[in-house]
Amino acid sequence: MTITVNGEKTSHEVEDRTLLVHHLRDVVGLTATNIGCDTSTCGSCTVLVNGESVKSCTVLAAQVDGDEVETLEGLAGDGGEMDAVQNAFQQKHALQCGFCTPGMVMAATSLLRENPDPTEEQVRMALKGNLCRCTGYHNIVQAILSAAEGIR
Ligand code: FES
Ligand code: FES
Repeated sequence: MTITVNGEKTSHEVEDRTLLVHHLRDVVGLTATNIGCDTSTCGSCTVLVNGESVKSCTVLAAQVDGDEVETLEGLAGDGGEMDAVQNAFQQKHALQCGFCTPGMVMAATSLLRENPDPTEEQVRMALKGNLCRCTGYHNIVQAILSAAEGIR
Protein backbone atom coordinates (compact mmCIF):
# COMPACT_ATOMS: atom_id res chain seq x y z
CA MET A 1 0.00 0.00 0.00
CA THR A 2 1.05 3.60 -0.56
CA ILE A 3 -0.05 6.46 1.65
CA THR A 4 1.09 10.04 1.91
CA VAL A 5 1.94 10.78 5.52
CA ASN A 6 2.51 14.41 6.43
CA GLY A 7 3.20 15.17 2.79
CA GLU A 8 5.63 12.30 2.18
CA LYS A 9 4.75 9.22 0.17
CA THR A 10 5.39 5.92 1.95
CA SER A 11 4.98 2.44 0.43
CA HIS A 12 4.93 -0.74 2.49
CA GLU A 13 3.52 -4.21 2.48
CA VAL A 14 0.89 -4.53 5.19
CA GLU A 15 -1.03 -7.44 6.59
CA ASP A 16 -4.78 -7.21 6.07
CA ARG A 17 -5.36 -7.03 9.83
CA THR A 18 -2.92 -4.17 10.53
CA LEU A 19 -4.59 -1.16 12.10
CA LEU A 20 -3.63 2.29 10.85
CA VAL A 21 -2.38 3.31 14.30
CA HIS A 22 0.02 0.34 14.39
CA HIS A 23 1.16 1.07 10.85
CA LEU A 24 1.91 4.69 11.69
CA ARG A 25 3.75 3.86 14.90
CA ASP A 26 5.53 0.62 14.06
CA VAL A 27 6.18 0.87 10.33
CA VAL A 28 6.24 4.57 9.45
CA GLY A 29 7.89 5.35 12.81
CA LEU A 30 5.66 8.24 13.89
CA THR A 31 4.87 7.69 17.54
CA ALA A 32 2.88 10.81 18.48
CA THR A 33 -0.29 8.91 17.61
CA ASN A 34 -1.08 6.84 20.68
CA ILE A 35 -3.14 3.83 21.63
CA GLY A 36 -4.97 4.68 24.83
CA CYS A 37 -7.84 2.20 24.91
CA ASP A 38 -9.18 -0.98 23.41
CA THR A 39 -12.63 0.37 22.86
CA SER A 40 -12.40 3.20 20.29
CA THR A 41 -13.40 5.72 22.91
CA CYS A 42 -10.34 7.70 24.04
CA GLY A 43 -9.28 9.52 20.86
CA SER A 44 -5.55 9.28 21.62
CA CYS A 45 -5.12 7.79 18.17
CA THR A 46 -6.82 10.66 16.28
CA VAL A 47 -5.28 11.51 12.91
CA LEU A 48 -6.59 13.23 9.80
CA VAL A 49 -7.32 11.15 6.71
CA ASN A 50 -7.93 13.30 3.65
CA GLY A 51 -8.54 16.11 6.12
CA GLU A 52 -11.17 14.24 8.16
CA SER A 53 -10.55 13.43 11.80
CA VAL A 54 -10.54 9.65 12.34
CA LYS A 55 -9.61 7.30 15.15
CA SER A 56 -6.76 5.37 13.65
CA CYS A 57 -7.42 2.39 15.93
CA THR A 58 -10.71 1.81 14.13
CA VAL A 59 -9.32 1.87 10.60
CA LEU A 60 -7.30 -0.77 8.82
CA ALA A 61 -4.12 0.52 7.23
CA ALA A 62 -5.16 -1.06 3.94
CA GLN A 63 -8.34 1.01 3.95
CA VAL A 64 -6.38 4.23 3.52
CA ASP A 65 -4.32 3.01 0.58
CA GLY A 66 -3.80 6.02 -1.69
CA ASP A 67 -4.98 8.50 0.93
CA GLU A 68 -3.38 11.46 2.70
CA VAL A 69 -2.76 11.04 6.41
CA GLU A 70 -1.74 13.80 8.80
CA THR A 71 -0.35 13.16 12.26
CA LEU A 72 0.78 15.50 15.00
CA GLU A 73 4.32 15.35 13.64
CA GLY A 74 3.13 17.00 10.44
CA LEU A 75 1.78 20.15 12.08
CA ALA A 76 5.09 21.80 12.87
CA GLY A 77 6.74 24.02 10.28
CA ASP A 78 9.88 23.07 8.37
CA GLY A 79 12.06 24.57 11.08
CA GLY A 80 10.19 22.68 13.79
CA GLU A 81 8.19 25.71 14.91
CA MET A 82 4.80 24.89 16.35
CA ASP A 83 1.62 25.71 14.48
CA ALA A 84 -1.19 27.93 15.81
CA VAL A 85 -3.01 25.14 17.65
CA GLN A 86 0.15 23.76 19.26
CA ASN A 87 1.17 27.28 20.26
CA ALA A 88 -2.20 27.96 21.83
CA PHE A 89 -2.01 24.70 23.81
CA GLN A 90 1.33 25.86 25.18
CA GLN A 91 0.22 29.42 25.90
CA LYS A 92 -2.96 28.33 27.68
CA HIS A 93 -1.27 25.55 29.65
CA ALA A 94 -3.41 22.98 27.90
CA LEU A 95 -0.47 20.64 27.51
CA GLN A 96 -1.19 17.68 29.65
CA CYS A 97 0.04 14.14 29.24
CA GLY A 98 1.62 12.88 26.06
CA PHE A 99 -1.16 10.37 25.64
CA CYS A 100 -4.24 12.48 25.18
CA THR A 101 -2.66 15.72 23.93
CA PRO A 102 -1.77 14.67 20.37
CA GLY A 103 -5.31 13.43 19.80
CA MET A 104 -6.76 16.63 21.27
CA VAL A 105 -4.57 18.75 18.98
CA MET A 106 -5.56 16.76 15.90
CA ALA A 107 -9.27 16.95 16.79
CA ALA A 108 -8.88 20.70 17.30
CA THR A 109 -7.07 21.05 13.99
CA SER A 110 -9.87 19.25 12.21
CA LEU A 111 -12.49 21.44 13.88
CA LEU A 112 -10.75 24.73 13.11
CA ARG A 113 -10.22 23.84 9.47
CA GLU A 114 -13.94 23.21 9.12
CA ASN A 115 -15.09 25.98 11.42
CA PRO A 116 -12.55 28.71 12.19
CA ASP A 117 -15.01 30.53 14.46
CA PRO A 118 -16.42 27.90 16.82
CA THR A 119 -18.43 28.61 19.94
CA GLU A 120 -17.30 27.08 23.21
CA GLU A 121 -20.11 24.55 22.87
CA GLN A 122 -18.93 23.58 19.39
CA VAL A 123 -15.40 23.11 20.72
CA ARG A 124 -16.69 20.88 23.50
CA MET A 125 -18.75 18.90 20.97
CA ALA A 126 -15.71 18.46 18.73
CA LEU A 127 -13.73 17.07 21.67
CA LYS A 128 -16.44 14.60 22.64
CA GLY A 129 -14.49 11.67 21.25
CA ASN A 130 -11.28 12.62 23.06
CA LEU A 131 -10.98 11.68 26.70
CA CYS A 132 -8.62 13.06 29.29
CA ARG A 133 -8.68 10.71 32.23
CA CYS A 134 -7.69 13.62 34.44
CA THR A 135 -10.77 15.57 33.26
CA GLY A 136 -8.68 18.67 32.60
CA TYR A 137 -10.74 20.07 29.75
CA HIS A 138 -11.00 23.73 30.70
CA ASN A 139 -7.61 24.88 29.42
CA ILE A 140 -7.90 22.72 26.33
CA VAL A 141 -11.15 24.43 25.37
CA GLN A 142 -9.62 27.85 26.08
CA ALA A 143 -6.59 26.97 23.94
CA ILE A 144 -8.75 25.98 20.99
CA LEU A 145 -10.81 29.17 21.24
CA SER A 146 -7.58 31.16 21.41
CA ALA A 147 -6.11 29.31 18.42
CA ALA A 148 -9.28 30.12 16.49
CA GLU A 149 -8.81 33.82 17.25
CA GLY A 150 -5.23 33.65 16.01
CA ILE A 151 -6.17 31.81 12.82
CA ARG A 152 -9.04 34.14 11.86
S1 FES B 1 -6.84 4.22 20.97
FE1 FES B 1 -8.21 4.84 19.43
S2 FES B 1 -9.89 5.62 20.53
FE2 FES B 1 -8.56 4.93 22.09
S1 FES C 1 -3.70 14.66 30.76
FE1 FES C 1 -3.74 13.05 29.31
S2 FES C 1 -5.27 11.72 30.00
FE2 FES C 1 -5.42 13.44 31.28
